[in-house]
Amino acid sequence: MSDTARLRPHRAHLPLVAAATGATPSRRPVWFMRQAGRSLPEYRAIRADHGMLESCFDPALVCEITMQPVRRHDVDAAILFSDIVVPLKAAGIDLDIVAGTGPVIAHPVRTADDVTALPRLEPGSVGAIGKAIELILAELGDDTALIGFAGAPFTLASYLIEGGPSRNYERTKAMMHGDPALWNVLMGRLTDITIGFLTTQLEAGVDAVQLFDSWAGALSDADYRTYVAPHSARVFAEVASYAVPRIHFGVGTGELLASMAGVGADVIGVDWRVPLDEAVRRVGPGKAVQGNLDPTMLFAGPEVIDREVRRVVADGERAVAAGAIGHIFNLGHGVLPGTDPDAITRAVELIHSL
Ligand code: CP3
Repeated sequence: MSDTARLRPHRAHLPLVAAATGATPSRRPVWFMRQAGRSLPEYRAIRADHGMLESCFDPALVCEITMQPVRRHDVDAAILFSDIVVPLKAAGIDLDIVAGTGPVIAHPVRTADDVTALPRLEPGSVGAIGKAIELILAELGDDTALIGFAGAPFTLASYLIEGGPSRNYERTKAMMHGDPALWNVLMGRLTDITIGFLTTQLEAGVDAVQLFDSWAGALSDADYRTYVAPHSARVFAEVASYAVPRIHFGVGTGELLASMAGVGADVIGVDWRVPLDEAVRRVGPGKAVQGNLDPTMLFAGPEVIDREVRRVVADGERAVAAGAIGHIFNLGHGVLPGTDPDAITRAVELIHSL
């Protein structure tokens, strides 16, 4: 362990950690996926002069961008500014993040030779991210958690195979079903990369980790269980010894909630389609839930935001009554770029007041 990790004080008092572990938080914890990013003018000012991936590998910029929404909104957690493709880039895969599109892979991975040629992640190659975490922890207040994250193997595989964002995931599902042995080799390699990236962040001292399987909702429950769950389970098992809350999230995963809960996370992220108390009936008792305000509601004006925030808080209380060990307020997916940042600040104030 690094010195920072060893010197890190006990973090059980953090509202987010308390809610994730069944303790009583000192206030209702809230943070927002994609809270760092284009909704903030101070972010757009930095990005005017720095590329996305360049920013992700510059510790001072990562620290500054991670801190921006914490300063502005008084959220209970910072999320490391990075991207799910950062460890792939660090390993040496030729890719870029294109504004308005997302990750674009220069040479998509489609054959056995492509899979064999995939590089491994050398821990030293994400040293900048560990350094960034040290800077953030030195600046972050004592009551604010730092969340690290990684993309789950399936979501990473979908980008690598399709070559970029996809609507139907046809090539991904074709490999999964047409050549399950090759699929499993690819997923195993990506699982190793995900574990390596998370381990770097945990060694540097993050207080929680979130595994984003953003696009798992494209799968049937049967396919998820057969082709994805064993690999995601290995990720969660490998990081269990750090004893920090492990959050698992995907979009459109209402039909997968029970299976996703089965791979080992402590907290299940829920999108806006399933009310939190219904989510708990699917997940089962003993885990915390995170979510799930529809991100578009932040465009609907103060009265709607007020009503919807109160509804999600009430759903969260019903979720706890139904067996969840806690509720972490969040959106059902990320902050949209055109969101008025003041609407977010006011929503946080309201959530803390309830
Ligand atoms: O505040 C935070 O949430 C932390 C930062 C963060 C980013 N990406 C920054 C980013 C996180 C957690 C991610 C994860 C990520 N990246 C996911 C999982 C979360 C999710 O949204 O489901 C996925 C699927 C990606 C892949 C990716 N990267 C997409 C789909 C995009 C958006 C493309 C676009 O421009 O609309 C990106 C780019 C990206 N990642 C941006 C940011 C701030 C926008 C880049 C920019 O500012 O130009």
